[in-house]
Amino acid sequence: MAHSSVVSLRGVSKRYSEKVLSVDNIDMDIAPGEFISLLGPSGCGKTTTLRMIAGFEQPTAGQVLIDGQDLTAAPPYGRPVNTVFQDYALFPHLNVSDNVGFGLSLTKVPAAEARQRVVNMLELVGLADKARARVQQLSGGQQQRIAMARALVCQPRVLLLDEPLSALDAHLRQHMQVELKRLQSSLGTTFVMVTHDQTEALSISDRIAVMHKGRIEQIASPDALYDSPESAFVAGFIGASNLLDGQVLHSVDDQVTVGVGALHLVARSRGPLARGSAVTVSLRPEDLRLGVRADSQPQATGRVLQRLFHGRALRLQISLPGIDSLTLDVSREAAQGQALYPGDEITLSIQPGAACAFAVQPTL
Ligand SMILES: Nc1ncnc2c1ncn2[C@@H]1O[C@H](COP(=O)(O)OP(=O)(O)OP(=O)(O)O)[C@@H](O)[C@H]1O
Ligand SMILES: [Mg+2]
Repeated sequence: MAHSSVVSLRGVSKRYSEKVLSVDNIDMDIAPGEFISLLGPSGCGKTTTLRMIAGFEQPTAGQVLIDGQDLTAAPPYGRPVNTVFQDYALFPHLNVSDNVGFGLSLTKVPAAEARQRVVNMLELVGLADKARARVQQLSGGQQQRIAMARALVCQPRVLLLDEPLSALDAHLRQHMQVELKRLQSSLGTTFVMVTHDQTEALSISDRIAVMHKGRIEQIASPDALYDSPESAFVAGFIGASNLLDGQVLHSVDDQVTVGVGALHLVARSRGPLARGSAVTVSLRPEDLRLGVRADSQPQATGRVLQRLFHGRALRLQISLPGIDSLTLDVSREAAQGQALYPGDEITLSIQPGAACAFAVQPTL
């Protein structure tokens, strides 16, 4: 059978103990050359999933296929996969060049070719001049690049990265995100990266698997996750969103009118919802506008509770009849010189098509 996926997870679960189901029946297909991120809050099963692809953990159920071959039971060294660990795990007694060449020295690659590959890889990560340096003499960002070079020199089909940039300060981290993307594009290697930083995942991934309590909530491109979240969890986790309690007033196909406080909102839904049922409505702060607009949904009048200066925009917390707090981003142009301080009254309107409604799952 022809297979277009490099990595396929089929019904993969991991249970460490009776009580802990860390990964709960996940399916995922990763295409050649894709940059995929596993994103989710602490403890949702990201590292466990990555370790099962790497072969450091055995699934309790399900299969791990690489290039269509069932490698569920194969040890890490029996898989065309390399891992970059969170702490880099460089060898302190070896210099930079020997660190990068270590994996190759365990293979049948002839010594001359191995040396050349190390030189090429150091050039690719911009550290050719550090070949003889000791790893302790390098900065955090340089050590990170060495860890990348060491994993990539073996030319794996898939590179697995667990929070590869988490040890770096914010500025260097942003710089390394660009580097990571550049490296991945130039080599065409499939990358699977674990992160809990949504900005990082959104900026460099082709697709993101959003995980929650051991399950994949949604796997999609950054744009699709941002514009069309399929659950209230994804809407709340990706970007900033107001999540409001509401009740369905009426519903036709994938459009629903919801009562939220004193507002009647038209929202998108994933199919019809029962009249009277409880929903969570997500609304992004940038989709709320100051003032009355002809093309917008019913306007509302509220009061400013708090004002935060965010450079080009002001972030306002406001209260509306029946809604305790709503976050609204106002560009400085749109504010038009209005000070917008706590206590001020404002009128706002909602961008058509911006709200999404999700059925509230009954709690068991
Ligand atoms: N070796 C282990 N033995 C028992 N439980 C474990 C083990 N490893 C992980 N777990 C549990 O499995 C769940 C998922 O852990 P995992 O490390 O995959 O989370 P994560 O999403 O990577 O979180 P973080 O962002 O904090 O790194 C957690 O509840 C964790 O306590
Ligand atoms: Mg982890």
